[in-house]
Amino acid sequence: MDNSILRLPAEQLFEEELNVLIKADTDPVPEGWKMSPRSVKIYICGGKVGNVNITPKYIGHERLVEIAIATLVTDRALLLIGEPGTAKSWLSEHLTAAINGNSSRVIQGTAGTTEEQIRYSWNYAMLIANGPSQEAMLKSPVFTAMEEGAIARVEEISRCASEVQDTLISLLSEKRISVPELSLEVPAKKGFSIIATANTRDKGVNDMSAALKRRFNIVVLPAPETLEEEMNIVKTRVEQLSGSLDLNAALPKDTVIEKICTIFRELRAGETLDKKQKVKVPAGVLSTAEAISLLCNSMALAGSFGNGDITDDDIAAGIQGAVVKDEKDTVAWKEYLENIMKKRGSHWSGLYKACRELNE
Ligand SMILES: Nc1ncnc2c1ncn2[C@@H]1O[C@H](COP(=O)(O)OP(=O)(O)OP(=O)(O)O)[C@@H](O)[C@H]1O
Ligand SMILES: [Mg+2]
Repeated sequence: MDNSILRLPAEQLFEEELNVLIKADTDPVPEGWKMSPRSVKIYICGGKVGNVNITPKYIGHERLVEIAIATLVTDRALLLIGEPGTAKSWLSEHLTAAINGNSSRVIQGTAGTTEEQIRYSWNYAMLIANGPSQEAMLKSPVFTAMEEGAIARVEEISRCASEVQDTLISLLSEKRISVPELSLEVPAKKGFSIIATANTRDKGVNDMSAALKRRFNIVVLPAPETLEEEMNIVKTRVEQLSGSLDLNAALPKDTVIEKICTIFRELRAGETLDKKQKVKVPAGVLSTAEAISLLCNSMALAGSFGNGDITDDDIAAGIQGAVVKDEKDTVAWKEYLENIMKKRGSHWSGLYKACRELNE
């Protein structure tokens, strides 16, 4: 493994696990796939193969993962939707890594995504010099996925303009792509599919048409149900991330993770965990993913400017940035500090003071 790369794709990071699963597979493998659906599930949800431990990648309802994998066995495409930071992109990357051994066929949906980026475009110098030819074609990830019988990923599909989304309708129903300039029809090989992700916060930016939605099986990824579940996700991911980032700091203690998750869950839900007190909900997204990056930032602060142990000051700096995104959030956050955190007793007082100092 190359340690100088900031973020390795899943198939390289977990190459060993993937190889072990492929070797041990006894179930039938669908055409175009590298392993059976059962092995894909073990790769995603974790388990044991022989005496090798397979680390869990997605932590949550295993049934949802089974439904997602089963969708890809059929000829329907898969759409993962949910709140920000609920591991939609993460699951999509790992599914393609396990199924194809390649998670890099990605189109990032933005307001600027064009139809050509979904189908194909041209190397214009070659096009002008020699006219249209296969060599002058620039194939999109969806195009190559069709040719190879593999899965392409479309991220943040609802951020693309409607006409760009509509391009996918014809590709998904015809299962072929035509290149009129070359009188060419490229049929999709078995194994071709698309995994798209969409964020519920972007709803209304460019709502997906009913016609497009019908071509997808939709799986909704929920925010973690319980505090324990969220702590487990945060702990696992912080361990994995900090391992590859050389942060020179000790991992956060369980009590620290518990405090962060508690604050995030309460501000997200608009009430305290015991449901006794209402709190104002800030505008920022307080997702599990934010909690993970907050703790990694705190570790970076502790490792770079402290003695390597995360202090309340390190956490306070991170929470402030995560919670307060505009003027109104300052009010919500101050109220939370005074009405909830201050009254929580001595083991919260250090963090309370550190947070209050930043708001004076
Ligand atoms: N249930 C979960 N299991 C494992 N990891 C999770 C879970 N929920 C969140 N994460 C972690 O949160 C981080 C962010 O996830 P990801 O980027 O996939 O979110 P997303 O749903 O695509 O968000 P966005 O809508 O902002 O694109 C990842 O590091 C992922 O590991
Ligand atoms: Mg995403």
